[in-house]
Amino acid sequence: MSLLTKLPIMIEECEKACREIEAGNFAITEKIGNGENLLVHSDNLTLMKYLLEQKAMGQKINLIYIDPPFYSKANYGTERKLSSEKIGKVPSIKQKAYHDVWEEGMESYLRMLTERFFLMKELLAEDGCLWVHLDWHSVHYVKVILDEIFGEKNFINEVIWNYKSGGVSKNYFARKHDTLLFYAKSSNYYFKAQQEKSYNRDLKPYRFKGVAEFKDEVGWYTMVNMKDVWQINMVGRTSAERTGYATQKPEQLIERILESCTREGDLCADFFCGSGTLPATADRMGRRWIACDLGALAAVNTQKRMVESTKQGYTFLRESKKKEWKGNLKVKTDLRALDDSDKMKLAVTLTGYEIESILDIPVEKKQLPVIKEILSKDSLQLLDYWSIDFEYNGITYSPQLSFCKGSDSISLGCEWNTTAKGTIAIRCIDIFGNNSFQIIPIGGKDE
Ligand SMILES: C[S@@+](CC[C@H](N)C(=O)[O-])C[C@H]1O[C@@H](n2cnc3c(N)ncnc32)[C@H](O)[C@@H]1O
Repeated sequence: MSLLTKLPIMIEECEKACREIEAGNFAITEKIGNGENLLVHSDNLTLMKYLLEQKAMGQKINLIYIDPPFYSKANYGTERKLSSEKIGKVPSIKQKAYHDVWEEGMESYLRMLTERFFLMKELLAEDGCLWVHLDWHSVHYVKVILDEIFGEKNFINEVIWNYKSGGVSKNYFARKHDTLLFYAKSSNYYFKAQQEKSYNRDLKPYRFKGVAEFKDEVGWYTMVNMKDVWQINMVGRTSAERTGYATQKPEQLIERILESCTREGDLCADFFCGSGTLPATADRMGRRWIACDLGALAAVNTQKRMVESTKQGYTFLRESKKKEWKGNLKVKTDLRALDDSDKMKLAVTLTGYEIESILDIPVEKKQLPVIKEILSKDSLQLLDYWSIDFEYNGITYSPQLSFCKGSDSISLGCEWNTTAKGTIAIRCIDIFGNNSFQIIPIGGKDE
């Protein structure tokens, strides 16, 4: 049977299948600020079920933007360069980000998306909308599926994002656009038209009565309602927003979508968040947000990006059954009385990092000797993020301080004024995305 013939059956089967999915069990890993927004390291299917069934979030989300794998038949990763004075030159480490290879073909890919579209529709507010970011590989099939689920009449736009970067070919026209499908939940959807420049013919003034005209370094123009072809540059190598995560999208693109389809305070979600472009943009623009990704590398990238930029705070949730290798920080604490005060100064220094089973790390076998060498000579180079809660209450981990690895270094110590001995807690994420959490009684002894 051809895929075209199978589509209606497949859509029906996916609707049934998504009802059977069990909601995930999530544990709070870290709470930053008021913790209202959510960053979740999980498969989005079990998260969406959890939001619907356990958090009663049906019809609560104003905008869902997703940028899922495109059916590109490629695997994505990054090369991580570490520098160590103790080791000298360290060969770069290849990290796996995510797979976009579908051994069972287009149908299995479409099934993955279709099940999720049904749940997204339930989560969307009546005046909300869905943006699905794809390209030529699969957008034609996905458009047909979304017409069926959301209704043809709720299809609003096909936005073409045109960019310059990437390669060219001698055999076909250079592929320089992605396609974004914009669907509303109902005819009552929120939309605020944006304006853009439209240059006059010959760049000269028209002088029409009642039409405001402007001039810039290019020539004369008027302001018109924005069209559906957007020219926005990809995130360049030297751009301040670049995280190094493969397939990172520019904040300017997301900003335009949020400006058009949400108001301040609205709730936005990205269930395939990658490096966290949607949460970073939404947070900056005063929108509440939920971000989710399956990949450990995506989760740590988003965590680092958000902890450094968030104005609103968030809670980091992880699916409790997620299996990870066990990492362990070696920590030295030093508690001293402060002169003329009832307070004490607690100094915390990280002295090493161990991994229980190096074979569990998701890298190719040939990379293991490099990792072993780093672990034995300069193990803290493997840390990507750590945070510390000096007043840990045994229930919610709310760190006062957090540290991210910059281009080549991460701070390995900190101090805090405290009134009593007790317990502190430390969480760290290594460069492979593995989380470790430790509770440490303080009183000056090494742990
Ligand atoms: C194209 S990337 C997203 C890039 C993102 N828009 C950015 O700007 O960085 C797609 C992401 O979907 C994630 N992903 C794939 N399947 C998933 C699933 N079932 N649940 C959650 N995330 C998933 C991948 O790990 C990957 O990070």
